[in-house]
Amino acid sequence: MNVTHVVGARPNFVKIAPVISALNEAKEDVNQVLVHTGQHYDQNMSGIFFKDLNLNQADEYLGIGPGTHAEQTSSVMLGCERMFEKYQPDLVVVVGDVNSTLAAALTAAKMQIKSAHVESGLRSYDRSMPEEHNRVITDHLSDILFTPSADASRNLHQEGIEKHRIHFVGNVMIDSLINQLPYRPELNDFKMPALRGLQKNKYALLTLHRPSNVDNPSVLSKICRELKFLYDEMPIVFPAHPRTRIQLKNIDAQHLTICEPLGYREFLSLESHARLVITDSGGIQEETTFLGIPCITVRKNTERPITITEGTNVLSDPENLSGLIRNILSNNDSGKTNALKYWDGKAATRIAEIIVSREWMN
Ligand code: UD1
Ligand code: UDP
Repeated sequence: MNVTHVVGARPNFVKIAPVISALNEAKEDVNQVLVHTGQHYDQNMSGIFFKDLNLNQADEYLGIGPGTHAEQTSSVMLGCERMFEKYQPDLVVVVGDVNSTLAAALTAAKMQIKSAHVESGLRSYDRSMPEEHNRVITDHLSDILFTPSADASRNLHQEGIEKHRIHFVGNVMIDSLINQLPYRPELNDFKMPALRGLQKNKYALLTLHRPSNVDNPSVLSKICRELKFLYDEMPIVFPAHPRTRIQLKNIDAQHLTICEPLGYREFLSLESHARLVITDSGGIQEETTFLGIPCITVRKNTERPITITEGTNVLSDPENLSGLIRNILSNNDSGKTNALKYWDGKAATRIAEIIVSREWMN
C-alpha cells in the first residue's frame, strides 16, 4: 500500500510522527512517503522537530515558504499534484488545520485519491479563524476521518457526514507527548542563557501566535500589560513564534523573558514544570490538560472544548487575564484534570489498524 503524508507546520510534525511510526510497525507492507511543504522552514520551527520526534528527513520538500493564504494554498496544491503523480498514493494522510492540510486534501480530492484527516471534527464555529475553514473543508473532502474526542465525532455527525467515514481513535498529539516526555531535558540543562535558573513550578510559560492576538500591536500590547503584575511574582518565559517576534519589536515587553521558539523536548520540559501556561495555541491547550497544568487560552472560543469541561483550560479576553491569573495563583488545586478517553498514547496504533484494514478502499 502506498501512503503519502503531507505536513507543513510545527504542530503537523508533532501529529504525524506517531502515525508514521505506527504504520512502520504494522504487519502489512506500507510504503510511506513524507512530503514537507515548507510552510514552516526555520530550523527551530521545523528541522529540530524531526530530530526531537525521531522523524526521518522528509522525502520531498516543496519549499513554499511564507505568503498570503491564496499563495500558500495554491503553491502547496501545485507541489502536491506533482508529488501525487510521482508517488501514486493509495491514500494521502493530512493532519491538523493549517493551510498545507487543506491544500493537500483538496489536491487529493481533485485527483480522485482517497485521503485521511487526522484530528478531524474539531470546530470553534468561528469563521474569522482561517483554521476553521481549513477544518471544515478538509473534513468534508476526506474519506477517513480520525477524531481525537467524542465531541469531534458528534460535530461530524451533525454536519451529515456518513458514519462509516468517522473513527474515534484518540489524540495523536498526546501520543507524541507520552513518547517524548521521558527525553525532556532538566530545566538546569537548558542551553539558552535566558532560560537557566528557572525553578519547577515557579515560572509562567507564554506562547502567542494567533493573528487576532499578535498582528495588531495594540492587542499584543494589552496582553503584555496584563502580565506586568505577574512579573513581580515569577519569571514569564515567552518562546516567541516568528509571526509574533516581528510585532514585539514595537512593544513594551521588558518584563517578559523572550526567547526563540524551542524544540519539542525543551518545550515539553518548560510546559510540564510551569506554574501556569498562557497561550493561544491549539495543541498546548491539550498538552496542559493532559499534564494537569493550569492553562489560560487568550481567545474567545476553542475548537477543543473538552480541555475546558474535562481539563485545566479557561478562556480569557486580553483584559481579563490578570484576574484569571490571580485566581489560579491563589488556588493550589487549579490544575484539576480528568483522564480523557483514548488520550492514552495509542491513537496512532488505532489509526494504523484502520488504514491497513483496507476497508476504506471499498
Ligand atoms: C500557521 C497556521 C496556524 C498554526 C500555526 C502553528 C495557517 C493558516 N496557520 O500559522 O493554524 O497554529 O502555523 O505555529 O496555516 N515564519 C517564519 N519562519 C517560519 C515560519 C513562519 O519566519 O519557519 C513567519 C513568516 O513571516 C510568515 C509568518 O511567520 O509569514 C506566518 O507563518 P504562517 O505559516 O503563514 O502562519 P502561522 O502564523 O505560522
Ligand atoms: N511547541 C514547541 N516549541 C515552542 C512552542 C510550541 O515545541 O516554542 C509545540 C507544542 O508543545 C505543541 C505544538 O508545538 O506540541 C503546538 O504548535 P503551535 O502552538 O505552533 O500550533 P497550534 O497547535 O496552535 O496549531
